[in-house]
Formats: sequence, structure tokens, C-alpha cells
Amino acid sequence: MSIRLSNGSEIPIEMHKIRIVQKVRLVPARERLRAIEEAGYNTFLLRTRDIFLDMLTDSGTNAMSDNQQAAMLVADDAYAGSESFYKLADAVKEYLGYEYLLPCHQGRAAEHLLAKTFIKPGTFIPMNYHFTTTKAHFNLMGATVLELFGPEALNTQSSDPFKGNMDMGRLKSAIEEHGAAKIPFVRMEATTNLIGGQPFSLANLREVKALLAPLNIPLVLDASLISENAYFIRQREPGYENVSIAKIVREMMDVADICYLSGRKSCMVRGGLIATNRKDLHEAIRPWLPVYEGFYTYGGMSSKEIEAMAVGIREMTELEIASSSADAIKWFCGRLIDAGVPVVTPPGGLACHLDAMRFIPQVPQTEYPAGALAAAAFIVSGIRGMERGTISMDRDEAGNDVPSDIELLRLAVPRRVFTMSHFIYATDRLQWLMKHRDLIGGLEFYDEPPILRFFGGRLKPKNDWGTRLTEAFEKDFGTKC
Ligand code: F0G
Repeated sequence: MSIRLSNGSEIPIEMHKIRIVQKVRLVPARERLRAIEEAGYNTFLLRTRDIFLDMLTDSGTNAMSDNQQAAMLVADDAYAGSESFYKLADAVKEYLGYEYLLPCHQGRAAEHLLAKTFIKPGTFIPMNYHFTTTKAHFNLMGATVLELFGPEALNTQSSDPFKGNMDMGRLKSAIEEHGAAKIPFVRMEATTNLIGGQPFSLANLREVKALLAPLNIPLVLDASLISENAYFIRQREPGYENVSIAKIVREMMDVADICYLSGRKSCMVRGGLIATNRKDLHEAIRPWLPVYEGFYTYGGMSSKEIEAMAVGIREMTELEIASSSADAIKWFCGRLIDAGVPVVTPPGGLACHLDAMRFIPQVPQTEYPAGALAAAAFIVSGIRGMERGTISMDRDEAGNDVPSDIELLRLAVPRRVFTMSHFIYATDRLQWLMKHRDLIGGLEFYDEPPILRFFGGRLKPKNDWGTRLTEAFEKDFGTKC
């Protein structure tokens, strides 16, 4: 929620009180430099004891509610037929509108099951944009991912409210070119992660469905960040200003043939699911569940998380919760824009995204500007963000780097975790970094995994820019923080 102050400005306002907290440490810049060197300039490989504000992701790091914690205490631990599963199935039916449910251990497990069931080599999967794990699973099964976004999607300085929309002209052409038989399904991702958490509109989702229905191509909705997408529809799509988040979520679900999600995001737990009303599609996937995940009624999740997910599905349809991260992101982005730091606009869901190519234009894509900026931001602030650029793209078959469409440093804002002073601190240090950006140089790999290299890859700076940045920081702030 946001609230208007008497001077006319708006601030995000917390619609909760904080009663359990976790201590964090702010170690000196020298120690942060040592930590990032040990981590191969890859923020994934840092230890949390060296991190002040962990903005790597919202995945599994949102603050759970008292009701979710309470639900975990009454979990029914049974290998088969657990009552906890039936509570989740009831919540899926009531809030998402689906009859059939397959739980799984997280979002990429759902992607694996969908790929295993529906994808054959030589097929094509159109989508509004890829996500890393999605693309990996679909490619591994032999499909080509077609990203059919509109003209504004990659413009980091846009005011387009729905940069996550599918381009209908491109989708029609793709279907004509490849033929419906070669398209097992079309995927729409809510609050499109890799282009800056950008939503699609309900009008667009309906248009996609109207095109696919006569061709019998199922529409698959990646609903990992569905509550944020619903909140943006309420804010930005004409006619939805007064419609409840619960109703908007249901409208989106009613359009899709299959919904899958990572429960680690909007649902604020650790788990995932696939749901549908199509018995044929459900029965096609179902046999694989015990092979890869676990029995039908737990699918690799703990009963405790299943209980908490049932509550999380209900809570994510509350306006206060659907808006909690999005409004904080909007405010944080506003402060950064005022401070002259280039961020993706309009502000989206999940995170505040810094545009690395505008921040450090001197670092070419071949030297991974988003990765360099992530390391530099950590050195000067203790804030851990995530590289979302060329490092997050794997090499092509010939072994060449695939330059990312955009180079972003993602500073995730997990729900109900950070406070206003954290954002003020973050803005201050990023503004300082912007002033000293000439000190930042590029990176090169010295240890590179063959797939999803961004997780475990190790890099080194092209010269000693990390040390020079640390020295400049110490000159201004001393050696204690
Ligand atoms: N789909 C989307 C849109 C996601 O953002 C994620 C994960 C997944 C699928 C995979 O789900 O992690 O539960 O296996 N996103 C996390 C992130 C990792 O940090 O953005 P998962």
C-alpha cells in the first residue's frame, strides 16, 4: 500500500508489524572485497554472513505471515493422502479456480514436468519472454523458445504500462510459419522477470487465448508472480481500478489452460505446483510426478510448506500483500531516479532493476557489465543483487557468448523484509557508485559451468578495479563500513 502525506508525496506504508527479526552484519568494504574475490565476482557464491541487505531474489525469502507459520504446526506428515494436500487443493480450487493439482518441489520442477510431457524435438514454444530455468528445460527437450515481445519490452526508459504483453502480430506469424502442430503450447509469464518484472494486461492474455483456442494450442501461464501482475492490472488497465486482486487473479486463471508456479514468490513459501481444469492435460503429466518429484499428494514438498502454501495462496490475493513489494519498488526506483541512477521504467514487480549499460557504458557486453555492476555494488554497500544479463545467458552451440537483450542488475525487494531506511541507505551508496562509475571495469570467466553458468561460474576482474574502487570508498567513508 502507498499513503499520501500532507505535503502531497506518496510513501509505501507497511500494513503489518514486525515481530520476528533476523540480525544482519555490515562488514567493512575491505572484507566485502575479499568476500567477492573468494566468490569469483559472482554474488551467488557469497556467504550471507558477509551480506548486509540480501537483494539477490525474492525466491523463498519473503517474510511469511503469522498465519502461515501457524499452519505449519498442524501439518499432516503422511507419504500418501495427507490432509495438508487436500487443504492446498481446496485453496487452489477456491482462489485459482482449478480442479486438478500436481504439487512439485519448485517452479523449475513444474517446467521439467511440462517439458517432459509435451515437448518433442523440433518443436517451438512461443512466449512473452524466457526465464532462465524455463529455457534450459525446454531446450534440453529439443524445443526452440520464441520470444515474441512487443516493441517497448526491451526499452529500459519506457512508460509502457504492459511491457510484458505478447506481440499478437509476431505470434500469428510464428504460428503461420511453424504450424500449430509444432507448437505444443504457448507460455505467458506473469510480471515478466528478466525484462524487469513487467506485467501483461488481461486484454492481451485474452487475445492470446482467442487466437490459440480454435487451433487447440494450450495456453500455459507461469503464475510465479501472479499477485504482482494482478496488482499492476488493477493500477494500470482501464476498468480494473476497483476490481479486487482475488477477482483479477481468477480472471487470469480462467483464461489459461494450465497454470504452473514457483510457490517461492507470490505464495511466500518454498514449493511449486501445476494446476488445470483439463483432465486430459492433467492425466498426461500425472504419471511423471512420482517418477521425478514424489507421490501425488506431496510432489517433493514438505507437508509444512504445503500447509503454508494453502494460506499463502489466499493471502497473495489480498491487496495489502499483492502491493507490498510493488509499492516499495516504485518508491525505491523513484529515489534512485532522483539520484541520477539509471533504472528500468516503469518500475515493475519483484525488484528494482539498474540498467548496467547506461550505468557503466565503458564496459562492453563481452565483459559482462551487469555482473561487474553487481560486484561493484556489493563492494560499496554490502548489498547483494543478481546479474541479469549476458552471464545469465548460456553460450550457443558453437561456444560463443550470446549477448543478452538488456544488461540489468536486479535488486530484489522480497515482501515485507526491508524498511525505508534500507532503501535510503541503498540509494545513497548507489548514488556514490554512480559518481565513481569510471572506476568499474569488466570481468572474464575462469571457471564456467556448461549450463546455467550464472549460478556457479567464477570470474575475475579485467584489472585491479575492485581494489581501486575499495580504496576510493575508504577515502570517503573510512575503513569501518
Ligand atoms: N518462473 C519464473 C517467472 C521465475 O521467476 C522462477 C524463479 C521460476 C519460474 C523457477 O522457479 O526457482 O522455484 O524453480 N525465479 C527465481 C528468481 C529463481 O530469483 O527470480 P523456482
